Amino acid sequence: MSEKLSQSFEKNDNLWKKEFFKFLKYQSISTDPRHNKDILACIDWLQKHIEDHLNLETVIWETPDHPTLYASSSIDPNKPTVLIYGHYDVQPIDPISDWISPPFDPEERDGNIYARGAVDDKGQIFYAICAIQALKEIHGELPCNIKFCIEGGEEIGSGGFSHILPSKKEMLKADFALIVDGGIPGENQPALTLGIRGITTFELTVKGSSHDLHSGTHGGVVYNPLHAISEILSNLRNPDGSIKIPGFYDGVKEPENIDLVSWEFFEEANYKSMTGAKATGGETKYPPGVRGTLRPTFEVNGIWGGYIQDGFKTVIPSEAKAKLSCRLVSGQDPQQLSDKVKDYFSSLVIPGITINLVCHEGKGPALMTSPESKIAQVAKKAYTKTFGKECSYILMGGSIPITRAIEEVSEADTLILGTAIESDLIHAPNEHFSWDRFRKGFLIISEIIEQLGS
Ligand code: BES
Ligand code: MN
Ligand code: MN
Repeated sequence: MSEKLSQSFEKNDNLWKKEFFKFLKYQSISTDPRHNKDILACIDWLQKHIEDHLNLETVIWETPDHPTLYASSSIDPNKPTVLIYGHYDVQPIDPISDWISPPFDPEERDGNIYARGAVDDKGQIFYAICAIQALKEIHGELPCNIKFCIEGGEEIGSGGFSHILPSKKEMLKADFALIVDGGIPGENQPALTLGIRGITTFELTVKGSSHDLHSGTHGGVVYNPLHAISEILSNLRNPDGSIKIPGFYDGVKEPENIDLVSWEFFEEANYKSMTGAKATGGETKYPPGVRGTLRPTFEVNGIWGGYIQDGFKTVIPSEAKAKLSCRLVSGQDPQQLSDKVKDYFSSLVIPGITINLVCHEGKGPALMTSPESKIAQVAKKAYTKTFGKECSYILMGGSIPITRAIEEVSEADTLILGTAIESDLIHAPNEHFSWDRFRKGFLIISEIIEQLGS
């Protein structure tokens, strides 16, 4: 069969690339309300694309934040049903000056397509869409019932989608679910992701005076919120790198399955050449691979306040802020952990300073999948066949917050799928996807669906 799939890819190559470029042009940045119109334009385009090219029934589900596109083939009770999840929203583009070509004006250079979302997740969900089109063209009829669920708020934690999920149980019911938003350890290293971490995110506000103050008149008198926030954040970790927040490690077991950690990725020289930095963060008693996948973390993602433009301004700002997030592992519940973090920040006392921590809506637990499941076994074969190389197992440090909820609601045998690699620069300037790995993703998912249907 894969011969026919390859032929189908070659035949459609130009058309699909053209359509993909159209998809990439939408500035569907979910975290920035100024792009709400672009989100809507993007989902409209995607809906039309799926109706026109795949002939599926579609409906747009409103959520408290961004809408989700649902598309379904007609359901034949004699065939297994496969649910395919992805997201059409993307991350912000800053720092914009680091982009070689504009982030929403896709450009192909040396076999790579450069654009925000080229991989995460427009590229990956788009090869899944192409796969369904190809399977239809090859077989006349799809080998499995197909349900697509493509959301617009993954990059903000899927808070909106998680609200409506329980009411869509019937429509999401499936035998298998493919979360097409994952990756592999390297260019020619096929691997199944058996685990990802969970996440919760926060915004911290540290407030002093009612308005900004002259630092000559008030320096040494008032408590500077920037000093306060630095003290709070620098006091979060013990000398061994562990997190001080009481109860932070409740339920966390000592790492098992450490053979699953993609050691090569975390090897010192590799890590340094990929990132420009050494793997020296986190808990000193664990090796980097374990720290990056099987241990929870507390990260500072942004910190600001006061004067940051050119030149200098003698000011004591009225407030300082930080964006914070925790990565969670098995045994940690996102809500309970958020509550503990909140309790800790409430317990802090700095005279004259008000400390306020807001927990964002979007959050999700860690996920572990068994390599024994049918979907994992079928996928392993598909990866091995496509890459011509034995597929291994890995754990990943990133998060796809809605995964566990989808698994529960759909009652499906669920697997994370993808062909993204670190050097694709997802979330960073110059994100890019090689058309070769787009094609491999297409082959893998097509192959899985054919196998599940046979
Ligand atoms: N697709 C990524 C998750 C991912 C990262 C998979 C690296 C494979 C390799 C996903 O879109 C993502 O970025 N998730 C966010 C969620 C957060 C913004 C709530 C993450 O992990 O930071
Ligand atoms: Mn993603
Ligand atoms: Mn992402």
